[in-house]
Amino acid sequence: MSVPVIAIDGPSASGKGTVASRVAAALGFHYLESGALYRLVALAGGDAPERVAASMDVEFLNRKILLNKHDVTDYLRNEAIGDQASEIAKLPAVRAALLGRQRGFRQPPGLVADGRDMGTVVFPDAVLKVFLTASVATRAQRRHKQLNDKGKHATLAALSSALEERDKRDAARAVAPLKPAADAVSLDSSDLTVDEVVDQVLNKYRERMVR
Ligand code: DC
Repeated sequence: MSVPVIAIDGPSASGKGTVASRVAAALGFHYLESGALYRLVALAGGDAPERVAASMDVEFLNRKILLNKHDVTDYLRNEAIGDQASEIAKLPAVRAALLGRQRGFRQPPGLVADGRDMGTVVFPDAVLKVFLTASVATRAQRRHKQLNDKGKHATLAALSSALEERDKRDAARAVAPLKPAADAVSLDSSDLTVDEVVDQVLNKYRERMVR
């Protein structure tokens, strides 16, 4: 039997990362945050992103991400890097270069992967595909709180329009656009707590496994 994968896709700030890492911890599975790979390519810079994507040395530690042996965790999350990552993610050669790397995370006993194309392209045979959404207002508020907690500030209006712009770009690109897989379960987290979303995903996974 192949190693089970749970794919969690969705727009920016939909809570995929938090939910995916909690589901992985509950099941004792590995966790892949695929957006971090695109962010790392953006952070590494240079004028041949496809070469960077193929050759960069990346280590995902417990709470840290190392790029070429340097701890870059604090730089990865910033909005400018997210936007650059979204631009770079349009390039088919970059996506192709990251494909094998992403599939390499599929190790026993299982994997929970979050991103935009986990269910459509990277792990089309995932046992459970979740498309996690939330209203723009909810997502902007969550991002606002995250930034505030880090002592950074941005207006809700600016955050909403930046999120919408990034989603539009991610959904409009020709290769592996942001969209639910045909067999994905859609989950709107606007009015749910993180615990409720995690429970729903775990319940759906368990339902699939007893079939
Ligand atoms: O999940 P994130 O916000 O960290 O991702 C940053 C950008 O990377 C996102 O705007 C588009 C790109 N991305 C992608 O194209 N495919 C993925 N599987 C994950 C991220």
